[in-house]
Amino acid sequence: MTLEEAIRGRRSIRKFRRDPIPEEVLREILDQARWAPSWGNTQPWEFVVLTGNALDEFRTTKHRKMVAGEAFSPEIPMPEVWPEHLNKRYKENGKIVLTAMGIAREDKEGRMRLYENMFLLFDAPCLVVACIDAKSLVEYAMLDIGLVLQTLCLSAHDKGIGSCIMAVSVGYPALLRKIAAIPDDRRIVMGVVLGYPDPDYPLNRFQRVRADISEFVRWVS
Ligand SMILES: Cc1cc2nc3c(=O)[nH]c(=O)nc-3n(C[C@H](O)[C@H](O)[C@H](O)COP(=O)(O)O)c2cc1C
Repeated sequence: MTLEEAIRGRRSIRKFRRDPIPEEVLREILDQARWAPSWGNTQPWEFVVLTGNALDEFRTTKHRKMVAGEAFSPEIPMPEVWPEHLNKRYKENGKIVLTAMGIAREDKEGRMRLYENMFLLFDAPCLVVACIDAKSLVEYAMLDIGLVLQTLCLSAHDKGIGSCIMAVSVGYPALLRKIAAIPDDRRIVMGVVLGYPDPDYPLNRFQRVRADISEFVRWVS
């Protein structure tokens, strides 16, 4: 696979086969991801890899919390208000997703099924949780975490393994801390699910869009 194919071909996968990923393959992915750049080569990331019963317990309890309407409280807070032009892209993405699934906007049950699929982590057999030392400069380490997660997703893609970076996977941090034994001096930043993609699922196949570079690049000479 060329780098171009990896960059263009990686996409968020939203339904996985249940087959586990062999541990040596997961190790190779993590081994490649560590070559991501970081400030001063500090490599501030720490990963917790959940599979098997631990992941299933997390998945089902999280789903129960979502159905019960328990509030979402990630440790890296999400912005409450997005700039207008970004919100527009978010809404367009939502429309594309619903159309790909054949779900009408007013179909509440259909939308709920989508949420449930998401809260069940798309049936992924593996969740990698990225943490940092809670005492570090939290904002600054976000840059390094972003870089290492993209590297991880590209490496997975190169090995035929799908990924989805998931804010939803870290929305109930107390539960995650308990099941994965994450100590209080670590901040939970983001999770990525990994697994073999279900090739027929519409959200693994729809045509994605990106803004043209003219929308976000300004040239100065
Ligand atoms: C920080 C971050 C959090 C994300 N959280 C979720 C999530 O909770 N659920 C989800 O379905 N996708 C999530 N995504 C995936 C994005 O929706 C996806 O990257 C975006 O729509 C672009 O699509 P692509 O990854 O297929 O290119 C997240 C991506 C990032 C970078």
